[in-house]
Amino acid sequence: MIELFNNNGHRSIMFNNLSVGNMIQSTQHVIIDGDEAMLLDPGGHKVYAALISKMADAISSVSKIKHIFFSHQDPDIVASANAWMMMTDAKAYLPEIWIRFISHFGVDDIVIKQITPIPDKGMDITLNGKTLNAVPAHFLHSAGNFQLYSPESKILYSGDLGASFGQNYDFVESFDDHIQYLEGFHKRYIASGVLLKKWVKMIRKYDIEIIAPQHGAIMKGKDTIEKYYTWLENLECGMDIMDDDLVFKS
Ligand SMILES: [Fe+2]
Ligand SMILES: [Fe+2]
Repeated sequence: MIELFNNNGHRSIMFNNLSVGNMIQSTQHVIIDGDEAMLLDPGGHKVYAALISKMADAISSVSKIKHIFFSHQDPDIVASANAWMMMTDAKAYLPEIWIRFISHFGVDDIVIKQITPIPDKGMDITLNGKTLNAVPAHFLHSAGNFQLYSPESKILYSGDLGASFGQNYDFVESFDDHIQYLEGFHKRYIASGVLLKKWVKMIRKYDIEIIAPQHGAIMKGKDTIEKYYTWLENLECGMDIMDDDLVFKS
């Protein structure tokens, strides 16, 4: 458990070591404000069991979880959705285009009513009176994809954008050294450089101190974040690097 922010009753906690076996490393973030908590991208069943016990270090009871945010439809995000919604009376949020898909993960009729669809343009979510912004990031990487911004902590929970794999640290020290761990995922899982340029232009309107992805290391500080933006603006990925036979150019 790592605390990313703690001020004025607002906390941001991350759990980044609950994935086991062949599971892709994934990070679960929890935002706490006063007596209410919000869980982001909880992941699969084995993570569910581990997270339930670890969460006791952060909140007194899982009943404090009032909101669950699903950035997109992947299994490392939603596979345990039913269990979480049965366990809590939390409101859940999921991109509108994935609502009818989530039932394939066993989300029962009783709990499907707990899910609010996030419209394509995004929406605000209120946690204990504080506003959080669900910001659109479609095709980065999922076709219906949102990130969550907390004006209180200035953290952008960026989902799969910013994901890194293979490093042995929790916080990026040198962005240039970190590129090697970002590159593979961003080139293959992010749809297009055109969209990255649009995203950077849009996200620059937000005052961000920390980018907290769902996989890998945290990018902290304006200097590192600016270097990430510049790297993204110049990145060729996805369709940019495919040939006419839809094969990735080496
Ligand atoms: Fe994903
Ligand atoms: Fe992911």
